[in-house]
Amino acid sequence: EAAETEAAGGVLVMATNAEFPPYEYHDGGEIVGIDAEIAKAIAGELGMELEIEDIAFDSIIPEITSGKADMGLAGMTVTEDRKQSVDFSDTYAKASQKVIVKEDSEIASPDDLAGKIVGVQLGTTGDIYVSDLEADGTTVERYNKGFEAVQALSQGKIDAVVIDGEPAKTFVAQTEGLKILEESFTDEEYAIAVKKGNTELLDKINGALKTLKENGTLDEIVAKYIKA
Ligand code: ARG
Repeated sequence: EAAETEAAGGVLVMATNAEFPPYEYHDGGEIVGIDAEIAKAIAGELGMELEIEDIAFDSIIPEITSGKADMGLAGMTVTEDRKQSVDFSDTYAKASQKVIVKEDSEIASPDDLAGKIVGVQLGTTGDIYVSDLEADGTTVERYNKGFEAVQALSQGKIDAVVIDGEPAKTFVAQTEGLKILEESFTDEEYAIAVKKGNTELLDKINGALKTLKENGTLDEIVAKYIKA
């Protein structure tokens, strides 16, 4: 039904998981952040009204494939696997998976994660890549929210957390005694997901993104949330 309202030029439904500062998070009763503002700006370019649906991260792609949401903006990394289920827009940000450990941890690089207990957010690329280490004896603890993994680390229940760099910075700043390892686990790029074959919406989104890149709006939004 979201697809119909979209076609009527009215509402653009965005699926996200607002547990991912500074890209999307709750502030008072509102969902704010880089993705929320990019989505609002895209809706503005298209003369549409934005509606944000906050759901579990691993429900975003199903929500799009079923047509309940028009697009997914969730700091979502482009992967070959996900391209089997959804189409991606042009990329709008570079990112990386980072490792968070306790300040006094013996873990000094991603290579040291073999055999350790590592927390991730369920269904994220952090989950996917750390799960590859299970063959080396690594235990993966999957949490619904990234911050829950960080809290478990802080309480000594797990040895490390693998999560995107920007939320890592935010969470570490909010928690005592943690640090982010310098070496990244992977390098990635974020894009907007739409239903496979919905080239009409994809073209509109890419057109709007191009405008927002060229007129400086995208940089302004990012600068508001990420201090250089
Ligand atoms: N970049 C990672 C991925 O695509 C994590 C994204 C998590 N986003 C969120 N809104 N919780 O898998």
